[in-house]
Amino acid sequence: MREAKLGRDRHVGLFLRQMMRRPGRVVALAPSSAHLARAMVAGLGPGTGSVIELGSGTGVITRAIIARGIPEERIAMFEIDDAFADLLARQFPRARLCRLSAERCEEAPLEDVGATVSGLPLLSMPTEVQRRIVGGAFRKMRPGGVFIQFTYGYRPPIDRPVREELGLVWSRSPKIWRNLPPARVYTFRQAG
Ligand SMILES: C[S@@+](CC[C@H](N)C(=O)[O-])C[C@H]1O[C@@H](n2cnc3c(N)ncnc32)[C@H](O)[C@@H]1O
Repeated sequence: MREAKLGRDRHVGLFLRQMMRRPGRVVALAPSSAHLARAMVAGLGPGTGSVIELGSGTGVITRAIIARGIPEERIAMFEIDDAFADLLARQFPRARLCRLSAERCEEAPLEDVGATVSGLPLLSMPTEVQRRIVGGAFRKMRPGGVFIQFTYGYRPPIDRPVREELGLVWSRSPKIWRNLPPARVYTFRQAG
C-alpha cells in the first residue's frame, strides 16, 4: 500500500517535470485523478473488445481500463513522450506500446477495437490534427465504436467541423469535481 503510494508520488513528479519541459503537449496541471479515470472507462467491459488509449501519460487511465476487465494484451497505448513511454513499458509490459503520435492511431496493432480512450489535449490541437486523430480512430474501430475524451471546458472537446464531417453524436457526464481541475467526460459515436 505504502509502496503503491510512493510509486504514485513519483509518477506525479515525472508528470510535473514533463509538463514544465513540454507544456504544449501535456497541457494539464496533474495526472487525471482515479475518479476521472473511472468515469472515462465506466462504459467499458469485457464485451468492448480491444481498446486504443491515446496520450497514456503515467498510466492512470490505463490502469482503470484494465480494472474494467480488458486484458492488457488488448490495449494499445499511443504516447509520444519518451519518459512517459518508458514508464508505461515498465508498468504494462503486455500492452502494445506505440511510441507514435496519436495521428497514427489507425495503425494500432489490434483487431476488433470497440473504444478509443483519449487523454490528449485535443482542443488545444489544430482542427486538421484533430481530424487525423479522431477520423483515424473511427476508421480503425468496429461499427458502433466510441471515442471517449475528457475536457475541462464547456464545449464538446472536438471541433465542430470534425464532429460534422464524421457525423458524431455524444453524451456527457456530470462534472467530476474530484479532479484538478474538475472535468467532464464526453462519449462520441457515429450517428446511425
Ligand atoms: C493531459 S496529459 C494526460 C495523461 C494521462 N492520460 C492522464 O490522464 O493523466 C496528455 C498526454 O498526451 C501525450 N500527448 C500529447 N500529444 C500527443 C500525440 N500527438 N500523440 C500521443 N501522445 C500525445 C502527452 O505526452 C501526455 O502524456
